[in-house]
Parts: sequence; structure tokens; C-alpha cells
Amino acid sequence: MKSLITAAALVANVAAFPHFSSEKRGIPVEALLERQVSQPQGGAAGVPLPAVPPPFNAASQRVNVNGTYTFVAPGSGDARGPCPGLNAMANHGYLPHNGVATVAQFVAATTSVFGMGVDLATFLATYGALVDGDGVSWSIAGSPHVGIGGSHGNYESDSSPIRGDLNQYGSNTKVIISQFKTLYDMQPDAATANYNLDVLRTFRGKRFQESIDKNPYFAYQPFTGMAVSQAAFTFIYRFMANHSAEYPEGRLNKDVLKSFYSVTGDSNSLKWTPGHEQIPYNWYRRNTADAYTIPYFLTDILYFSMTNPQINSVGCNQGRVDSYNTIDAATLSNGAYTAAQAAANPVCFATEFAIAEIPSLTGLPATAVAPLTKTLQGLTSGLNCKAIGSVNQTALSICPGFAFYGGPTGPVAPGAIQS
Ligand code: HEM
Repeated sequence: MKSLITAAALVANVAAFPHFSSEKRGIPVEALLERQVSQPQGGAAGVPLPAVPPPFNAASQRVNVNGTYTFVAPGSGDARGPCPGLNAMANHGYLPHNGVATVAQFVAATTSVFGMGVDLATFLATYGALVDGDGVSWSIAGSPHVGIGGSHGNYESDSSPIRGDLNQYGSNTKVIISQFKTLYDMQPDAATANYNLDVLRTFRGKRFQESIDKNPYFAYQPFTGMAVSQAAFTFIYRFMANHSAEYPEGRLNKDVLKSFYSVTGDSNSLKWTPGHEQIPYNWYRRNTADAYTIPYFLTDILYFSMTNPQINSVGCNQGRVDSYNTIDAATLSNGAYTAAQAAANPVCFATEFAIAEIPSLTGLPATAVAPLTKTLQGLTSGLNCKAIGSVNQTALSICPGFAFYGGPTGPVAPGAIQS
């Protein structure tokens, strides 16, 4: 199916977002990576950033949830999809309440409400406009070609933290209470609970294995798996955490986690209300000097993969639970990346794969999408990514769950185990 995108929309959009050099994005990637690997943890591996506590400024970090920004529950015409951060912003009027926004609106909202780096925000929003919109705007829910909820395999992924796998539950947007409870119970003491990167990397490993064990169609694809699904985990702490003078690096407790996920109750009575994601009162976002950029995100993936090396390669179940096989990055990229190179820089492999795949995803010629794909490549230029000339989609044909577009609902795979 052809995308709704037009060449004029692409040109208009790209003009709004000039390329960013790594220096303009703040700390150079080399310095971030150096910091990541040089800090001893138990005498061995690295620890997550930040290396030194970031500044805290209550006035600029406090997020207003009053007046214009008071929570308003979605109505019947309002889109709410798989992303709790975007849903919360639409509920508070930081994004249009109907859930459809332009690239510029997504960038403004994610940077100002959560402290996302401009590079990461622009990449995420532009990719959304390319594969799930008209080149200018897209929906935070929607169906195939008009929103991220209908973008299973392109943007939305299996083995997400809290939303179900599409072909395990028949929905990619439903909160699965057992998944939430697993995470929730990993910090039993409410007084000290902090869902930080250590907790999340353990949870990431559990969710990956759970998809292998329960979803016969589990597909862990290059972009959605190796990049987006890691973001789905790191964003929980990196964006939902509350910042304070005492904890300028952020602390994510039980109540804040539940508020952002629209979940109420205690461990034995957890209840999800669809679409009511809420920014808590007295909540403080990341400091601007500590923006969560693409290089910062890469260091988090590398931190996750120290204990979960499987997340840095592509693979899938082959129609039965526990039939997971990895697929060689060299095969997928027609030799552009070896498996080791892809694992060393999963953001490069994933984004270059996605960029090379865009013409076949959108049905548009490479020349028409070139302005926006150039923008995407510019945003990762600080990582010195090797381009992928052409991708080998046939390598994914062993995966019955491999999809170009799908969701927000879909068939439940025979043999799927729900819990
Ligand atoms: C333009 C910016 C953004 C885009 C395009 C985007 C897109 C997405 C998509 C496609 C998913 C589904 C991933 C999956 O299937 O695993 C997702 C999930 C998620 N997003 Fe966003 N997102 C954006 C910004 C944010 C922000 C600002 C937050 C802040 C809290 C956030 C937090 C999350 C979390 C925690 C999940 C995982 C949901 C789960 O538990 O399953 N995102 N997002």
C-alpha cells in the first residue's frame, strides 16, 4: 500500500530540521562512550550515566499540569496508542488532544516536557512522519499508515515492557497486568523503590525470554527490536523519573510509574484504565544540560547488552514458542555489517537498516524520501555509522511474525500463551 506521504510534504518538513553535528547536540559521543566503559562497577563493567550528578533547577524543570495543561481524559475521537509518554502529553495539552501532531509539535513537546535531546526527538518524530504519516504529521495511535499503533514491525515492536505482543494478545496497545506486576514487584519497598537502569535491564531480559516462551510469532527486527524496543525500556527511567535537588539524576518510584502507565491499585489489585496516562503533580523533568540524546541512548543500550547480549542481534520464533533463531546481521545487510559490528553499535545498524528499508516500507521511490532519510542520517552522524546499501528482507522470511505494517489489533497466533 502506498504511503500518504507526498514529495512536497517531505521537502517542506526537511527544511525545518537542519542536520545536527555531534558537538551541537552537547557532549560528543566519544566522551559519552568513554565515560560509559571506564567506570568500574564491582571492579568490572561500566555503570550507567551520568558520571557526575547533573544540575537541578526547580523552576525550569517543574512541569506545569495546571490551567491549560490540566489532565483531560481522552474522548471518543481522541487517539491514544502504545506510547505512555505521548499519551500523557496529549492528555495534558502538550500535544493536540486528538493525538495527531506535526513533527515540530512532537519535537517541541518531547524536549520541553521530558528533556529529550533535540536529535533524538527529531529522529523519532521524523521517522514517524515518514512511515506512519503524511511526511508532516502522524497519529499516536491510528491504523496502518496513519499512526504508530498500526506500525507493528516498523515502529511498534514485540517484547515491549508493559504492552502485549500483537500476536500473543491480539493487541499491541493493551497493558498486560502480569507484565506490569513483574516490574512493579521488582522494587518491593515503596519507601526506597527506584526503577532505574539496573532494574530495567533485568526486566528487559525477562521480557525478551517471555516473548520467546509465549509468543510463537515473536519477531525481533533490526529497527523495532534492536533500537525501538530498547528505548521502550530505557525511557521508563530516563523520562518518567522525578528529578529533585536530592536526586538530580532522577528517581522513579511506584506512584510515578503507575501514573504514567495509567495503572492504579497495589501489587495484588493493579488495574489499568486505557488512555488515562497522567503527568504527576509536583513532577520535575530532566535538566536541559542533561538532555537524553542519541549518543546517551546508545550508552544505555550497551549497558543493557552487557547482561543481555541477545538484544544486539536480530531473531525470531519460527511459528512455535521456544523456537528462537538469530539472523546474521551480515546476511540482513548484504555484508555491510558483521554481527560483531552490529552488536558494537546497534543504533547504527538499526537506523541504517531502517533508512535503507524506507522506500519498500512507504512504497515511495528513494528519490522522494531522500530529503527526510538524509535528515535521519544527519542526526546519527556523530556515531559515524556505516551506510547499508541494500537490505535483504528475504532473510526475515523464516519469521512468521515479520511484518511491514500491522496492529493495533491482529490475530492471536496458534499456540500463544497468555498470562
Ligand atoms: C516522538 C517521540 C516518541 C515516539 C515516536 C515514540 C514512539 C513509541 C513507540 C512506537 C512505542 C512502542 C514501542 C514498542 O512496541 O515496544 C513506544 C513505547 C514507549 N514509549 Fe514512546 N515515543 C516517543 C516519546 C516518548 C516519550 C517522551 C516517553 C516518555 C515517557 C516515551 C515512553 C515510552 C515507553 C515507556 C514505552 C514502552 C511502553 C510499554 O511499556 O510497552 N516515549 N513509544
